[in-house]
Amino acid sequence: MKKNIGPRTVGFPTPVVLVGTTDGEGRPNLVTLAWVGICCSEPPAVQVSLRPSRYSHAAIVGRGAFSVCVPSKRYMDQTDFCGIASGRSCDKFAAAGLTVESGPELGLPLVAEFPVCLECRLLHTFTVGSHDLFVGEIVSCSAEESVLDARGRLDPNALEALVYMPGDGYYDLGPRLGSSFEVGKRLMPHE
Ligand SMILES: Cc1cc2nc3c(=O)[nH]c(=O)nc-3n(C[C@H](O)[C@H](O)[C@H](O)COP(=O)(O)O)c2cc1C
Repeated sequence: MKKNIGPRTVGFPTPVVLVGTTDGEGRPNLVTLAWVGICCSEPPAVQVSLRPSRYSHAAIVGRGAFSVCVPSKRYMDQTDFCGIASGRSCDKFAAAGLTVESGPELGLPLVAEFPVCLECRLLHTFTVGSHDLFVGEIVSCSAEESVLDARGRLDPNALEALVYMPGDGYYDLGPRLGSSFEVGKRLMPHE
């Protein structure tokens, strides 16, 4: 028997990423976001949702672009820090001991220490309610060679991905369980 626990955002594991922006004076900033996800294949696109009160919100609108930097689990403390401090009053790169790297296509701030970073050009903005949802077209994806397998695909073990459980905390990914578009075939009715 399921218990109706009401409409809420908890109970749904999410990625957790640091979104990089530059403000009107060109200063780089990072903001931790969990309301994010890939949202389109062609063009490749990602959505990120921010409250308008975040310093990073105006920076995304102003620049019309943002980066998405994927932390490995060893950067959990830095990830959390960038979600409680504001770029309004703090240089988060310096305070977190992270290195700014310039993105190859748009020159957006990327985190040198993180294994994967995307650069995104703002395509759409939707006001949902408390948050504005930004859809960005992915124009570059930079990955550390150490997280790529022999065929150039991302190796999830090497990535040491960090997962977020809203209202709770951070987890790692756990072991691989099966192949997508494959294991479901076991249930396919035979004709
Ligand atoms: C794990 C975690 C996830 C977060 N996810 C979001 C989010 O999806 N959207 C949002 O607007 N704020 C989110 N926040 C809060 C912002 O990261 C936080 O308000 C930050 O200080 C804003 O930084 P800024 O003012 O430099 O932009 C999250 C914080 C944490 C710790």
